[in-house]
Amino acid sequence: MEHGRLLFPCFLLVVLFAASASAQLRTGFYSNTCPNLESLVRSAVTTKFQQTFVTAPGTLRLFFHDCFVRGCDASVLLSSPTNKAEKDHPDDLSLAGDGFDTVIKAKAAVDSDPRCKNKVSCADILALATRDVISLTGGPFYNVELGRRDGRISTIASVQRKLPHPEFTLDQLNTMFATNGLTQTDMIALSGAHTIGFAHCGKFSKRIYSFSRGNPIDPTLNKTYAAQLRQMCPVNVDPRIAINMDPTTPRTFDNAYFRNLVQGMGLFSSDQALFTDPRSKPTVYQFASSETAFRQAFISAITKLGRVGVKTGNQGEIRIDCTRIN
Ligand code: HEM
Ligand SMILES: *[C@@H]1O[C@H](CO)[C@@H](O)[C@H](O)[C@H]1NC(C)=O
Repeated sequence: MEHGRLLFPCFLLVVLFAASASAQLRTGFYSNTCPNLESLVRSAVTTKFQQTFVTAPGTLRLFFHDCFVRGCDASVLLSSPTNKAEKDHPDDLSLAGDGFDTVIKAKAAVDSDPRCKNKVSCADILALATRDVISLTGGPFYNVELGRRDGRISTIASVQRKLPHPEFTLDQLNTMFATNGLTQTDMIALSGAHTIGFAHCGKFSKRIYSFSRGNPIDPTLNKTYAAQLRQMCPVNVDPRIAINMDPTTPRTFDNAYFRNLVQGMGLFSSDQALFTDPRSKPTVYQFASSETAFRQAFISAITKLGRVGVKTGNQGEIRIDCTRIN
């Protein structure tokens, strides 16, 4: 009896330790296998960013869409010969090609170091590239937890109802983010990503032309801004036309997104809802008035986003070509 009582807790401890050792991401994951990883990725991303600004918003949005569908496992990068992969879903069709290209270029840079070749997952390269584009546009620099493995499955079907839509209400946003272990504060901070990048007119045209019967313009939208949006997005505009989401500092990762919301200048209903709804308004005010508060909340939230559904240990694989399973 004495023996059994002692044995049980020890056995339990070992099991618990083994489980957490394989499930936890950590910042130094590649420090022995690929010591120069971070500078290899950073210089490839910087070169790409100098060629085109879309590198930044394209990569950031790609990371978000990857993590919300099957976890941060680079499944969004996979191509299928019959166009039935994640990236072929309508919700992913507007992902900028430059985001995908950024990961391909960074992966080539990593693999050019013989120590690193085929040792670093595409999922980790995307997480690092995302950190780098945020800091390149003036946002916070933070340590990236690593150790993700690449997924082997990517289907159109898995995207369905996994990504938020621009007409979502606060409740719908909160529900979807909560499913991914993110709080309302995380969701608001992450929405601050809309401080850089572009949106196609069709994503918000209902708000400026056909909001409701007798009210063509969404009343939560700033009237001056609505008039500007109508000018940039006339009826029957070329569907390829995209406009800046942050009209004030479109190329800087700052808290202008929140200052815009306070002025009724959120582009999507899902953006403006954060200020309209009394449950989220105080947080919007806080981030609008304190760049520091926003940056801290954003770092915490994107770190949590990077943990969503990750494969670790011997799950998944280290993809040789980010667009194909091994
Ligand atoms: C909260 C719910 C969200 C909704 C409803 C939403 C929706 C959208 C939509 C409709 C677009 C425009 C796409 C286009 O017309 O091409 C967009 C762009 C973008 N989103 Fe979100 N998004 C959300 C959250 C996020 C999050 C959490 C991030 C990243 C952390 C993010 C990053 C971006 C970026 C960077 C762009 C610009 C992409 C580019 O310029 O290529 N979004 N989003
Ligand atoms: C609408 O936006 C302008 C700046 O474009 C600002 O001066 C004005 O205060 C805003 N109106 C409201 C109601 O917030």
